[in-house]
Amino acid sequence: MRYFIGNWKMFGVPKAINILNKINSFQSKDKNRNKYRVIITPPYTLIETFAKYFTNKKIIIGSQNCYQKEQFSSNTGAVSPYMIRSVGAKCTLIGHSDNRAEGDTDLMLKDKVKFALKNNLKVIYCIGENKVQKNNNKTFSVLKKQLTKVLEKKFDQKKIIVAYEPIWSIGTGKIPNEKDLLKTTIYIKKTLKNIFKSNSPAVLYGGSVDESNVEIFSKIKEIDGFLIGGASKSSKKFIDIIKNYYSYR
Ligand code: PGA
Repeated sequence: MRYFIGNWKMFGVPKAINILNKINSFQSKDKNRNKYRVIITPPYTLIETFAKYFTNKKIIIGSQNCYQKEQFSSNTGAVSPYMIRSVGAKCTLIGHSDNRAEGDTDLMLKDKVKFALKNNLKVIYCIGENKVQKNNNKTFSVLKKQLTKVLEKKFDQKKIIVAYEPIWSIGTGKIPNEKDLLKTTIYIKKTLKNIFKSNSPAVLYGGSVDESNVEIFSKIKEIDGFLIGGASKSSKKFIDIIKNYYSYR
C-alpha cells in the first residue's frame, strides 16, 4: 500500500472542501486507486466538517498534531486525541519539525503517540535532520534517536507510519539525492524492525515533493509514499503527483 498524505498546515477555510472534492473524484475513477490511500490533514477547524463529508468516500481526514494528554485538561488552546477522534479524524501527524521547533520534546511526543493510539488514531510520526546535522554526517544518529526515544515495541506497529522529512528540504525546493535517500530509508526501516521486532511500518518521504520531482522518488521502491505540504493545497498538483508517480513506475 502507498500513501499520499497532504499536510495543509495553516491553510484552509470551509470552502476549501472543493479541493478535496476534486481529489476525491479523481481517486474514485483512477485505475490505480486500490494501490494507495489519500489522507489530508486540514487545520483543527475543518476536521469535523471534512470528516463528516468524506465518510464513506475515498479521502481519509487526519489531524496535524494533538496534545499529550488523553481526554480533557486545563491546557488553554490544546486539543486531545480523544477530541480529535470524536469529530471523525482517523489519524494524526505527530512530531512534525514545526512542532519540534516549538518545543515538542521526545517525552511529549511519546505521550502523544501513546494517547493517539489509545484513542484509535493512526499515527504518522515525523522525523528528520536539520542542515547542520546533515553537514556533520549526523543524519543517522539523529534519526535513530528520534525513533528509539519515542517509539516502543508495545505500540501497535500496524497503526504507525513514519514520515522522513529532512528539515532542510521542507518548503525549500531542495531534495535529497536518490542514493542518500535510498540509504536513509533502508536505515530507518532497519531501525524500526529492531524497535518492533517485526516488519517495519510504512516509511514515507516528505520535503518539497511536487509533480515533477516525484519521478525521482518513484524509482525508490522502499519509499511507501509521501507527506506533501505546499503541493497539497492545489488539487491539480496533488492529483498530478499521484498520476506521475504511477506513470513513471
Ligand atoms: P513541503 O512540506 O512539501 O511544503 O516541503 C512538507 C511538510 O512539511 O510536511
